[in-house]
Amino acid sequence: KNLATNNHLRHVESMARLPSGAGRIPELNAVILGESLASEENDLVFPSDHFSKQALISSPQKYLEMYKRSIQDPAAFWSDIASNFYWKKKWDQQQVYSQNLDVTKGDISIQWFKGGITNICYNCLDANIQSGNGDKIALYWEGNEPGVDGSLTYTQLLHRVCQLANFLKDHGIQKGDTAIIYLPMIMELPITMLACARIGALHSVVFAGYSAESLHQRVMDCRPKIVITCNAVMRGKKIIDLKNIVDAALSESSQNGISVDLCLTFENESAMNKEATKWQKGRDIWWQDVVPKYSTTCDVEWVDAEDPLFLLYTSGSTGKPKGVLHTTGGYMIFTATTFKYAFDYKDSDIYWCTADCGWITGHSYVTYGPLFNGATVVLYEGVPNYPDAGRCWEIVDKYKVTIFYTAPTLVRSLMRDGNEYVTRYSRKSLRVLGSVGEPINPSAWRWFFNVVGDSRCPISDTWWQTETGGFMITPLPGAWPQKPGSATFPFFGVQPVIVDEKGNEIDGECSGYLCVKSSWPGAFRTLYGDHERYETTYFKAFPGYYFSGDGCSRDKDGYHWLTGRVDDVINVSGHRIGTAEVESALVSHPHCAEAAVVGVEHEVKGQGIYAFVTLVDGVPYSEDLRKNLVLVVRNQIGAFAAPDRIHWAPSLPKTRSGKIMRRILRKIASRQLDELGDISTLADPSVVDQLIVLTDS
Ligand code: PRX
Repeated sequence: KNLATNNHLRHVESMARLPSGAGRIPELNAVILGESLASEENDLVFPSDHFSKQALISSPQKYLEMYKRSIQDPAAFWSDIASNFYWKKKWDQQQVYSQNLDVTKGDISIQWFKGGITNICYNCLDANIQSGNGDKIALYWEGNEPGVDGSLTYTQLLHRVCQLANFLKDHGIQKGDTAIIYLPMIMELPITMLACARIGALHSVVFAGYSAESLHQRVMDCRPKIVITCNAVMRGKKIIDLKNIVDAALSESSQNGISVDLCLTFENESAMNKEATKWQKGRDIWWQDVVPKYSTTCDVEWVDAEDPLFLLYTSGSTGKPKGVLHTTGGYMIFTATTFKYAFDYKDSDIYWCTADCGWITGHSYVTYGPLFNGATVVLYEGVPNYPDAGRCWEIVDKYKVTIFYTAPTLVRSLMRDGNEYVTRYSRKSLRVLGSVGEPINPSAWRWFFNVVGDSRCPISDTWWQTETGGFMITPLPGAWPQKPGSATFPFFGVQPVIVDEKGNEIDGECSGYLCVKSSWPGAFRTLYGDHERYETTYFKAFPGYYFSGDGCSRDKDGYHWLTGRVDDVINVSGHRIGTAEVESALVSHPHCAEAAVVGVEHEVKGQGIYAFVTLVDGVPYSEDLRKNLVLVVRNQIGAFAAPDRIHWAPSLPKTRSGKIMRRILRKIASRQLDELGDISTLADPSVVDQLIVLTDS
């Protein structure tokens, strides 16, 4: 009936027979284990006995028990968990969830806890204060410059949130309206998210590294009532004038018929003086001039569990970003629960996630997930290697961080800087490490484990996506041995399946497309304003399943190994970028006739962007033109999407029907010239020779 899941259960069952916590293996050396894992012995890393004993999920047996229940009776499993949250009115007990994931049976729809009335901000703040966490630090803020910092207790955070919520209400922002947030990692970012949630408004955070053009696109799509930003931010030694970017975006939007009448601007003192900021009278308001005047209490807008909470734009395989929409109740339960178990969270933990709130990780695991759990969260404004590559560990020691969650790209870049930057600091407080955003290569995993974590801290390599809201496949750190580079097993209630090209589930040791069977509470409900694209992108490829866009293999022990995107999306430093987005930026340059972008392996970034560019007839190649093309991408998307290589292409390899054969371009870009495969179907196979011969710049 459910091949893949049964297969997965069988594996965990066999693991469950093994002695749990068989002891720490500092050198990752072989351990003699039960037969089922024997041939993988070199790759197994066990949590220590000490860790497992205190862990929330302390053994494969315990996991298995809960996992089975979560799959066999999702309604009961999630209702029990949801009962620990505050609901003004309980959800419809008869129908905890309803779903249709099969396009052949009608519209795709997912609902959880429908009819339940709640508020996510209330659950994060008021509920925590009532249970005695009022004086606990909710946020520690570390500024770009060492020595510049701040903090807020849960009560202080609530007061700040309420003041802003009152300001928003006073300016006509109501339930269902959208606010765009374009802020760096300062405390006002989670404050603004929570204030929107408190009054039932949707937030759409745009990562403050996106260009004016990208911001403008998002304004056009979601038509916000307000944009909330700040004057500028320092990233390392660089100053980034955010307000200018907002001004440019809003002026372009208003020329295209969408005008935003309100722009609340926080004065980020550490960045730039107020006087230098350009101002549009009547539209722009300084945060500090108005918000602190409002009351520190604000009634909550009670919303249905299925009312939208936020929109977050992410890249897809076409040029137009997708507005991923998450609703309130299911997202709340899912982020809180995944946070708790995947990081083995305890009240005494100090948690630091290096992700920016402009990405989903910052939504689910900087703001909502940790705050529900009453955690103390560290926010860091700056870059990880400023003033030097030891900054992260200085912050870890300063705040006594116990859980440190980051991306493989950062691990690889710090690894390159050398161990001395790490070992100079104690890092004694650390007990759990986490990784997200891209596959973590075993050597980076080992460095993270051995050097950063002193071979003491389990690593939760969490696989998930903007669309999934929270962790889908992740280690539970005290429960089972880890394999460096594997995200291990699914979280409770998640049924990953691997399918072949025809959509058949494959059992046992296999590779294929990663799909998910059945819904989970944190699943996104639609793409904003485009339900059809939602159905086509995610549910049509393999009817009956959610298709993740990732490839995955499962080893003989049932461990999952993510192998990267199988669509036209590339993952650069954990940032998702559509090849089509970069291509459309490149061809907007008047000298560019055509462009094709592929991802290539990159030592630090995971993947780098490699662009094949055909110029308009008669235009010569030049270094200046190359720089200009890179600049166009920076300006249209953001610096993080700038191509690493531009390869001048007299023409591109195309099939007779005109389709660009990216498979061949990928091989050329990665210099796997003896693996070009069959090129006879190309309209003009000689194009390939030209590309190989031509030196790239
Ligand atoms: O390819 C997978 C990769 O990141 C994609 C999702 O990107 P985004 O929606 O921006 O969310 C990033 C943060 C959750 C996935 O389709 N990915 C994410 N986490 C992992 C990963 N690949 C391998 N291992 C992971 N742990």
